[in-house]
Amino acid sequence: MNSIKHVAIIMDGNGRWGLKHRKSRNLGHKEGLKTVERIIKATIKNKIKHLTLYAFSTENWRRPKKEIDFLFNLLEDFLLNKINEFNQQNIKLKIIGKKRFSKKINNLLNNSEKKTYNNKKLQINLALNYGSKSELVHSFLAIIKNKKYINERNISKYLFTKNIPDPDLLIRTGNTQRLSNFLLWQLAYSEIFFEKKLWPDFSEKDYNIILKKFKKIKRNYGNI
Ligand code: FPP
Repeated sequence: MNSIKHVAIIMDGNGRWGLKHRKSRNLGHKEGLKTVERIIKATIKNKIKHLTLYAFSTENWRRPKKEIDFLFNLLEDFLLNKINEFNQQNIKLKIIGKKRFSKKINNLLNNSEKKTYNNKKLQINLALNYGSKSELVHSFLAIIKNKKYINERNISKYLFTKNIPDPDLLIRTGNTQRLSNFLLWQLAYSEIFFEKKLWPDFSEKDYNIILKKFKKIKRNYGNI
């Protein structure tokens, strides 16, 4: 049976869920946040140490300002309400992506990371303003600046995910089968699960079914 150190998730389908239920994409995002909480709890129950959530990509800036503002207000409320609870539960928060937000959001993110820095039970890597191609360029530039050799070890070392094990599995909800510029380097040998359900409908049971399937997969890494 495979052990699981790291689960990465593309939380897709909020917009469609919201349109289907009340003609409001933003309602879908609000509902999606409930799934985030559900999956964090289930990840702890499963004793998994890393959970990476794709919350906002470098491409998501193309969305209407109203939706972007809604998402960042949701994030702000979420962190203001939850960060003490996370801290008590020994959860560490790390942002992956370039922190180029308003001063208020940047401060909140930095303070949340600082507060939970020494926590050990679960590390939540929240991908915000994240794009894998830009992360790779950032890594190569850092290697050149530090006069290091370009090799696999150094490329990994200068990614935002430094010291984080590569994901064992990636889950994408929302019935779409693509990677959307997410962790392209880190997912090289991950098992990928495409889930038909929209993110707000994704339950603890659905999650556990995928984890169980993953545990039974024979992972060869190119061997036989
Ligand atoms: C993708 O669904 C979802 C996002 C771009 C945002 C994810 C945000 C949340 C789950 C809630 C907020 C999370 C935090 C941590 C504050 P989509 O909007 O692309 O859905 P669609 O494919 O149906 O349009």
